[in-house]
Amino acid sequence: MAGIVRRTAVALRAPVNALAFSLRRRVGWSRGAPDLPKEPMGALFDYLDGAERIAAETGERALCARYGLDDLRAGSSRRDYREVVDLLSVLDDVRVSMPWAPDRPLRVVDVGARNWSYVGALERFFRRRAAKIELSGVEVDGHGIYPNGHARCDYAEAYAAQTGNPAVRYEVADFCEWGRGDEGAFDCVTMFFPFLTRYALLDWGLPSSLFAPAAVIGRAVELLRPGGVLVSLHQTAVEQDRMVAHLERFPEVSVKVERACPTRLVAHWPKLADRRMLAVVKAT
Ligand SMILES: C[S@@+](CC[C@H](N)C(=O)[O-])C[C@H]1O[C@@H](n2cnc3c(N)ncnc32)[C@H](O)[C@@H]1O
Repeated sequence: MAGIVRRTAVALRAPVNALAFSLRRRVGWSRGAPDLPKEPMGALFDYLDGAERIAAETGERALCARYGLDDLRAGSSRRDYREVVDLLSVLDDVRVSMPWAPDRPLRVVDVGARNWSYVGALERFFRRRAAKIELSGVEVDGHGIYPNGHARCDYAEAYAAQTGNPAVRYEVADFCEWGRGDEGAFDCVTMFFPFLTRYALLDWGLPSSLFAPAAVIGRAVELLRPGGVLVSLHQTAVEQDRMVAHLERFPEVSVKVERACPTRLVAHWPKLADRRMLAVVKAT
């Protein structure tokens, strides 16, 4: 019963979401990159006990060393740093080779980048694999305003700057319309928690008109170069199955990795207990 009430309440929000999104887009609010919060990293995993805590600390130390995270460790909030470490642990486990060549930049696009608080993980992961990378984050709702008056795109700008890589860029755009002329040019597309149900999209605060999983996934496939890889994360196996069902429309791609990736590296780990990862490769 409670579930039905919640679903109805979310469905009824659709017109309000549409109005609010349209206002955010028209106003296009931005007041510049904020200073990102920094915190001491002591007791990074204080929400865990015993062996789980030791395992998380050991995992963090290994990823910090492998990906050279000392600067992010010293200049981030604990929550942001844990998010970076967690995403690196997932990417580290993809184990699918990508089609990059040493004589050109590796091109990557992250779809639905939110405020890009995790971009440090993407930048470090791909920078370890190619001398030059071009990393774009595309977010359709980049002008949402936080209580301190900064917009989502302001934070994204700050997180992108924190990578120290000028080829890391965030754009407020609908991914379905993005990258015209760059079809077949991307080595990797990442898509973390794309909306595969209308309910999830409405609950996030977006208008129903933006519910277009087939178009988003189709655009990702178009932008990939032959041999390119699409990496996606999903909250549950049911969502992952929906993603796979959409991908079946594209004979040029095949699922290479499909695995559970629960975590203890973020404080909200119980919500990620059923998290799944997919890696899909476009035929050469
Ligand atoms: C569930 S959130 C995930 C955000 C982020 N990837 C993360 O892992 O936290 C999905 C994001 O996709 C964005 N989005 C949805 N449709 C989009 C589209 N057509 N183009 C670009 N971004 C889109 C939403 O605004 C939202 O920020």
